[in-house]
Amino acid sequence: MSFVTYEPQGAVAYLIINRPEALNALNSQVLADLDAALDAIDLDAVRCLIVRGAGEKSFVAGADIAQMKGLTKAEGESFGKQGNDVMRKLETLPIPTIAAVGGYALGGGCELAMSCDFRICSDTAVFGQPETGLGITPGFGGTQRLARLVGPGMAKQMVYTARNIKADEALRIGLVNAVYPLAELYTAAEKLASQIAANAPIAVRAAKKAINEGLDLPMDEAVVVEEKAFGSCFGTADQQEGMGAFLEKRKHEPFTNK
Ligand code: CAA
Repeated sequence: MSFVTYEPQGAVAYLIINRPEALNALNSQVLADLDAALDAIDLDAVRCLIVRGAGEKSFVAGADIAQMKGLTKAEGESFGKQGNDVMRKLETLPIPTIAAVGGYALGGGCELAMSCDFRICSDTAVFGQPETGLGITPGFGGTQRLARLVGPGMAKQMVYTARNIKADEALRIGLVNAVYPLAELYTAAEKLASQIAANAPIAVRAAKKAINEGLDLPMDEAVVVEEKAFGSCFGTADQQEGMGAFLEKRKHEPFTNK
């Protein structure tokens, strides 16, 4: 049985980390299942992916501490690489991804959420990088993505102190885009995903790639990345229909991904 459940619902799909007895903690098997689930997504049919945890208490409570306890330095590095490879696969997935964080997103859980395009959470959510309190550094991208998302000062404070933060603080520092009552979180995620799925998929994907690639570049090079993305949309059926509908003052037909 896989620890990751994939549930397509038309153009939107859920990826659910399903190990509730351990608050969805990520061991090597969960990471392997996540990797396989990402590979299996039908990118022609699915236009937005929602990542969540099973159960009401936790998104993901981190990498598996029981598995990590006895690792050697080399094994620790290798476990970090396994996690980083999966996070990077998620981050660079061609379609948009939303982390719907209902509960704990600690350590590897915060890192999984940060590998999605953006995050929304429940009012019960708790974020943090508790690793230095366990004698290790964050290992699935936390030393890199957190600083890019919330700035180096706040990231360093969170990592050095290992202090967890609640949903309101996560919202204030820009780690999440919105907070909902837990009972409304997944409906809100689906609404956002459906809004995204209704837009021209080629344009949405090109925008994702351009934003991600441009972030690491000087502006003179970053705008060239945008010019390529922009140009790639012209002549597509969806661009013709989207612009044609505007000019003809009518609602566009559903976009076709062509
Ligand atoms: N690894 C392994 N097992 C975990 C786990 C984790 N990260 N988090 C929770 N669990 C397990 C618990 O051991 C417990 O199992 P048993 O029932 O068999 O004892 C079960 O999940 C339920 O957890 P608790 O009884 O602890 O639940 P709680 O409500 O009292 O506390 C919690 C919840 C505050 C999230 C607490 O479980 C906790 O602090 N978990 C660890 C969080 C953490 O430190 N995460 C970072 C891990 S390091 C990391 O992620 C490194 C990296 O960057 C790659």
